[in-house]
Amino acid sequence: MSIPIKIAAVAFQVPSTVITNDDLTKIIDTSDEWIKTRTGIERRHVLSGNESAVDMGIMAAKKILEKSKIDVESIDYIIAPASVETHAYPSTACEIQAAIGAVNAACFDITAACSGLIYAMGIGRALIKSGMAKNVLLVATDAVSRCLDWTDRTTCVLFGDGAGAMLLTVSDDEQDDILAVDLKAEGQYGNFIKMPIPGKNCPLVEPNEQEKMFVKMEGKEVYKYVVTNLPVYVEECVAKSGLKMSEIDYLIPHQANLRIIEALEKRLEFNPEHVISNIQEYANTSAASIPIALVEAVQQGKIKLPATAVLTGFGAGMTVGTAVVRLREGIV
Ligand code: ACO
Repeated sequence: MSIPIKIAAVAFQVPSTVITNDDLTKIIDTSDEWIKTRTGIERRHVLSGNESAVDMGIMAAKKILEKSKIDVESIDYIIAPASVETHAYPSTACEIQAAIGAVNAACFDITAACSGLIYAMGIGRALIKSGMAKNVLLVATDAVSRCLDWTDRTTCVLFGDGAGAMLLTVSDDEQDDILAVDLKAEGQYGNFIKMPIPGKNCPLVEPNEQEKMFVKMEGKEVYKYVVTNLPVYVEECVAKSGLKMSEIDYLIPHQANLRIIEALEKRLEFNPEHVISNIQEYANTSAASIPIALVEAVQQGKIKLPATAVLTGFGAGMTVGTAVVRLREGIV
């Protein structure tokens, strides 16, 4: 018999420093009107001083421990979708493990950019269903603001920092909260979004200057790819879940651009009130954006629990991850 999975808790953490669109006009040639009209973004939260992606991840993980009351030593795995890490190694997951005392957890990071949380859900689900784990903690955390070219107006206005976490456990009743997960990758579109790692040959081999690590993006291509493919992928995943589209209460998409979210809403014929967006406040927080949107919408009463939902993310790769879930009362 298939082991049923419970989404036991979801939490998030964002930095307190806020940068508005008007603030950005002090360093680049842009306007609040351009950014709002093209993206829906009004503000973003960014790290300051010595704060790090790991710190945000630890805070989000601690909220999960508090909410779920899980014995921290019973966590079998910590998986961290983290594209912009504090260190190449140790992994973000190991650093979070040390901070929360999850001494029995195996830990690793994954790189699937903004689809990372859904990829981690797919892996966590497989670990539990196979009997390899009972409790899997997912912590998506990225410090994108540290890897932006703040003179490039085509990218720097789009992102913010944040962390989102989710605890998967063996269900204590018969309900399976993850009805379907669908992960896709189309590496042939890898040039759409890139963050090259500055590594150069030894200067004795050839003279060179060290470059910084910056996000580079072909925004229009990403836009076209997502608007064309995501609705199809969402429909496929819903079909796989055994539910009908009309039985899905909420659509919780990756927060990259409000126009993309509205296009999805129209194409999938969702009631706008059931499509969750908070890009206005946080911009694109990479793999953390879906849990941040989910938790805040529950806290603000926009999502009423229990509910069914489709979570769908897309990002560099190109990668796409979609999950059809049941959200229980008390997970936030
Ligand atoms: N302020 C003012 N003007 C700007 C800005 C800015 N911040 N950025 C670009 N412009 C200018 C351009 O230079 C261009 O000027 P020109 O016509 O004189 O050349 C004009 O505005 C139009 O630019 P476009 O690129 O055509 O604008 P577009 O409507 O395509 O919007 C955007 C750009 C917002 C990036 C959009 O394409 C988009 O959101 N794409 C999807 C991005 C996305 O989803 N990324 C996901 C990343 S996920 C991950 O894995 C990291």
